[in-house]
Amino acid sequence: MTTLRVLCAVAITGAIGVQAVAGAPDTQLAVPADLARYKQWPRLLESPANVPMKFWLMCMPPSAADRAAAKEQYGPHSERTIMVYGNQLAAGALVSTGTRAFPPGAIVVKEKLGRVEGGAAEGVAFMIKHQAPAFAASDGWEFRYFPSDDPAGTQQACAPCHRRAPSKDYVFGRYPK
Ligand code: HEC
Repeated sequence: MTTLRVLCAVAITGAIGVQAVAGAPDTQLAVPADLARYKQWPRLLESPANVPMKFWLMCMPPSAADRAAAKEQYGPHSERTIMVYGNQLAAGALVSTGTRAFPPGAIVVKEKLGRVEGGAAEGVAFMIKHQAPAFAASDGWEFRYFPSDDPAGTQQACAPCHRRAPSKDYVFGRYPK
């Protein structure tokens, strides 16, 4: 938990000095049309945030996580960037109340960008808040990731870690930032 907090602080404060812009829409990610509109939603980060490779790799479906582990072990521990979006319900809840208690319909998106300035997203992670009793085991949050070769395992891979978010309601970052 302490490590996550530290990592979180690094990610959120790491935005300084990053000039890259969010990636162009990438059809290869196979994001369904309703969710692919996230590019038009309010950005919860003023500019893409620099995060350590280890941190960037966290939000992954299980099979991708295995590959990520290998990549992390053998690849360079270079930095990556992310952009975070929220739909109107999510952004509104954050701005108006700051309570981080998200209403059903709220969606938070983490776009994982590479190191190339203006490059396409390499993956997109979604948290979608549902009306009870849907997704009761994760307090209404559905987790989805694109691209994914294990959609069924995604929920199990994501929810336990996000439940430990130090802030309320499964969200790690402090937004808008
Ligand atoms: C090992 C812990 C861990 C796992 C597993 C994990 N995440 Fe995350 N996630 C984080 C942390 C820490 C942050 C905040 C820092 C960042 O954005 O990189 C985050 C951020 C996010 C955000 C932005 C909102 C927020 O909480 O700040 C979304 C959306 C997200 N993750 C989705 C997912 C999805 C979808 C999965 C599964 C495919 C997943 N995460 C798996 C740790 C995790």
